[in-house]
Amino acid sequence: MTFSAGFSVQAVELFCGAGGMSRGLIDAGIEVIRAYDAWPVAVENYRHNIGPHAEVADLKNLLSIIPEIVRLAPDMICGGPPCQDYSLAGRRQEGENASMTVAFAIIATAVRPEWIVMENVIQASKSQAWAEARAMLKRAGYGLSESRTNASLYGVPQSRRRFIVTARLGERDGFLQSAVADAASARPMTLRDMFGPLIKSPLYFPATSAARRSLYSPDESAPTIRERSIRPVPATWHPHAADIALIENGYVYSRPVRGGRGVRTIDEPFPTVTRTSWERPAPKYLGNPHPDDPAPAELTATLTREQASRIQGFPEDWQWIARTQRDILQMIANAVPAPLAKAIGEIILARQAGQTVPAIEGRFLDWLEHNGQRRTIARNIKASAMRARRLLGGRTYADSARELADLDAVAGFASLPKNTRSDLRRALVLLAQFESSKKSRPKTTRQTRATETAPEPIVLADAA
Ligand SMILES: C[S@@+](CC[C@H](N)C(=O)[O-])C[C@H]1O[C@@H](n2cnc3c(N)ncnc32)[C@H](O)[C@@H]1O
Repeated sequence: MTFSAGFSVQAVELFCGAGGMSRGLIDAGIEVIRAYDAWPVAVENYRHNIGPHAEVADLKNLLSIIPEIVRLAPDMICGGPPCQDYSLAGRRQEGENASMTVAFAIIATAVRPEWIVMENVIQASKSQAWAEARAMLKRAGYGLSESRTNASLYGVPQSRRRFIVTARLGERDGFLQSAVADAASARPMTLRDMFGPLIKSPLYFPATSAARRSLYSPDESAPTIRERSIRPVPATWHPHAADIALIENGYVYSRPVRGGRGVRTIDEPFPTVTRTSWERPAPKYLGNPHPDDPAPAELTATLTREQASRIQGFPEDWQWIARTQRDILQMIANAVPAPLAKAIGEIILARQAGQTVPAIEGRFLDWLEHNGQRRTIARNIKASAMRARRLLGGRTYADSARELADLDAVAGFASLPKNTRSDLRRALVLLAQFESSKKSRPKTTRQTRATETAPEPIVLADAA
């Protein structure tokens, strides 16, 4: 994806760890100008692999941190506050770590950059801390997109499910949801996709997406059987002994969480990488293995530290430095997989550059019909709403009056025919009413069309 010349987003990262999120955002084209973490070991690894802009700081010290970041005037604040209080493996009681989610929101709303990105475990979305943080962001004027992502659909062979919040000043809630969903690959990336087929004379078909591999055996069907897409194998490719062992074995063990399967095949993604993922199966598990394990746990391969690091999206040349293996494993397990962060960064940059337009979610056409519009007219209204959003560079607006004012100010709008201008304005007003009606409708878990709340009648503002 390419972005407009001279276009840049500067970010400050909070709770940066060793730099998984920064790595991905930088790869997307975002400039990370400062990063903070309280753990000196993580900051040392960040500085060694990414750059000198990481600092050791306790982000509870709001009075010193906030003025410092205000002076930096970033376009974005991003970060993954600690999640132990929420994660399945943790105590499940909200304590000091959960309050760091609130600290994140306090800093972000005080600095008030255009963009905010926050990553956490899925359980955080239901927490009291997120409810408080969310309320702060809303009061500060942010529209929020809350997505539940699976990293295996964004370029790593790991079923890591995470809650990703993107926020932008002035937007409607959900403004980026369709773009995040559209960026997901059609199928999860597998361990075989990453560690390669076991082949002596590989064929190289440059991958067309993050979820595809590039090397294929002459014996298997490649994704695109076109002679001209076969290229020489890159000189940098060399099989690792551990990767060969993993592929030869075909199965891998990962200590299960909550009674799940311990054994995976290499044609699946690995489960969420934790600090203990690569422990060998304990006698307790061997005595009572999961009934759906595809192979005996004692015969499986175990990931090496380097493989775990790559499954978390760290590049092959990443250098881990720490006195203990435990610290390295902790930093790896803590990270946002860099390819996932890269995908989010690219989605943000594309929207900022006006290259994508949010889909209209929900039953807009049905709503228009319920409100007396014929289907063909409803389709025209929807098409006009999309055209107006394109003219607005993909922006959605929490404030309808501002949306119409900005539309009027768009270059070239004034020279459109009067009827077209009026249609575009009217379509945006109707879309805003539809969006508000979605919010006010009570949510039920099993709502059928027959039981849907009757739509509010349309009261058209004078949009012409
Ligand atoms: C989930 S990890 C972040 C990982 C990072 N996003 C990445 O991609 O590598 C959370 C981080 O918060 C840091 N942390 C915890 N309490 C903190 C505090 N009071 N101030 C600053 N950092 C803190 C931890 O040291 C840890 O590195």
